[in-house]
Amino acid sequence: MRVDVLFAPSQLAPALMTGRVVAVIDVLRASSTIATALANGAKAIVPLAEAEEVITRAKQFERGEVKLAGERRMLPIAGFDLGNSPREMTREAVDGRTVLLSTTNGTRALVGVQGARDVVIASYVNFSAVCALLRTALRGGTEVTLLCAGSDKQFSLEDAACAGRIARIATKRINGVQLNDGATAAGLIDKRYGDNVDRLLRECEHGRALTEAGFADDLAPCAALDSCPVIPIYQDRQITKLGPDRER
Ligand code: MLT
Repeated sequence: MRVDVLFAPSQLAPALMTGRVVAVIDVLRASSTIATALANGAKAIVPLAEAEEVITRAKQFERGEVKLAGERRMLPIAGFDLGNSPREMTREAVDGRTVLLSTTNGTRALVGVQGARDVVIASYVNFSAVCALLRTALRGGTEVTLLCAGSDKQFSLEDAACAGRIARIATKRINGVQLNDGATAAGLIDKRYGDNVDRLLRECEHGRALTEAGFADDLAPCAALDSCPVIPIYQDRQITKLGPDRER
C-alpha cells in the first residue's frame, strides 16, 4: 500500500491514478473555495478549465439555478457572479445552486485526473473529513495519491505542507504504508510550520501574491482547520458532497 505526494499535475501518470483515491489539493484557494461552497449548501460545483466553458455550460441552466465563478491572475473573471474567494461562497450566494468554476490551477488539475477510483478535493478547511475517507481507503488496501495543484505548473509550499499533514494523519497507526519521497519531503514542510497554518499562508509565495492583489482576508478562512467538514467528491464531471444524499 502506498501514499504518493505529487507536487504538480505534470507528475501525474496513469499508474498514480488508476484504481486509486486521488485527493487534489489547492489550499489557496480553489480547494478551500469548493469545500466552503458545498458546506454552505451549493448543490454541485462544476470545475471547468476555461472561462469560455463556464459561459457555454451556463446556457444549460435557468439563470437563478447557477452561479458563474472563477479567477484569472487571482481576480474575478469579467461578467461572472463570483470570484474564487471562499468568503464569497456564502449561503446566500450558493445555497441550492450549481457553481460553474474555472480557476488557473485548481480546476485544471482536477479535470486532468483520469481513471481514479475516487477523486476528492482536500484543503485545511475539510482536513479531518478527507483524512477519514483516506484512512478507510488505505485500510481497505486502496492506494492514495495526494496531488498538489501547485502554481503555474510549479511547486507550492502551502499545497505541499497540507499534503504532508494529510499523509501523516491518514496513515497514522496503519501498518505497511509506503511513502514516496514527495510524501516524506511534504511531511518535513508540514513539521516546519506545525499548527501555525496562518503563518504558512502568510509566508508562502501565493499567499504573498494574494495579499498584494488585495485578498489578504482570504488567508484566514483558508487556514481555518476543519471549518467546513465536507468531503467533496468529483464524479461525472461535477463535485458534490459525500453524505446521506450522495453515496459512493
Ligand atoms: C488556482 O486555481 O490557481 C487558484 O485557486 C488561484 C487563486 O484564486 O488564488
